[in-house]
Amino acid sequence: MSIEPKPGFVTIERAGYRYDAAGPAVVDAIDWTIPRGEIHCLLGRSGCGKTTLLKLAAGLLMPTEGAIRIGGEALAGPSPRAGFVFQAPTLLGWLSALDNVLLPISLKRRPAVADEDEALDLLNRVGLADFAHRRPSALSGGQQSRVAVARALVGNPDLLLLDEPFAALDALTREELQDDLLRLCALNGTTALFVTHDIGEAVYLADTVAVMEAGRITHGRRIELARPRHRDMRYAPSFIAACRELRDVMDGAATVSRRPAA
Ligand SMILES: Nc1ncnc2c1ncn2[C@@H]1O[C@H](COP(=O)(O)OP(=O)(O)OP(=O)(O)O)[C@@H](O)[C@H]1O
Ligand SMILES: [Mg+2]
Repeated sequence: MSIEPKPGFVTIERAGYRYDAAGPAVVDAIDWTIPRGEIHCLLGRSGCGKTTLLKLAAGLLMPTEGAIRIGGEALAGPSPRAGFVFQAPTLLGWLSALDNVLLPISLKRRPAVADEDEALDLLNRVGLADFAHRRPSALSGGQQSRVAVARALVGNPDLLLLDEPFAALDALTREELQDDLLRLCALNGTTALFVTHDIGEAVYLADTVAVMEAGRITHGRRIELARPRHRDMRYAPSFIAACRELRDVMDGAATVSRRPAA
């Protein structure tokens, strides 16, 4: 029986990117498809090109080769359908949490009452209803990360691009935010590409985990855990096996383990 491939919502077609025309391809002829509503996680060592690929998918950088399509349309600039959580915290220090969440709207027009209601609802959903009027300096690192996630979700984007959004957090807060994110994506049918260095985080969140190495995606693995995900799944043998396999791939050990027995 053959399985019909699902149509892509994000289609990356032999996309390449060089920061310098004479320099190396930081993203090198990548082909990748994310079906609508799926979460794909991208793992890879520092400097392999993950942030660059995410910026290409957001239309913040234009590929120097190939193309990126969102819902069939080739990207020609920053995608209005995408919300982005940057690797470095990018909240504006002089704005309240609420005004930071409203920023994508206020850059375009004066926010209406309905926009404020939506932003407050998002802050409520990430557990920050009581912090809407605080400035970032009066929020903990985890609370700032939640504001950044809420900001990326304002306007209900079709696509969420997240660059190590929880990297600076303690393990428990991180797990809570992973559950928040899964809940919000499931609620809205959001498609997501999530960059992380944490293999367990990738397996917990993803429908597919991709491993990137020197500008290329060298490995893709479907994660067949049921949804909704639950924290007990982290101890399931299939979860641990997926983590182990991805770790081997990242260590380059997969080639060794595939070697035929002598
Ligand atoms: N603006 C830039 N100009 C020139 N080179 C850049 C620029 N941004 C990134 N690079 C280079 O491109 C390569 C990939 O960078 P990128 O930020 O995509 O890596 P990454 O996989 O996200 O790494 P990390 O895990 O450390 O965040 C690196 O060698 C980096 O030095
Ligand atoms: Mg990066």
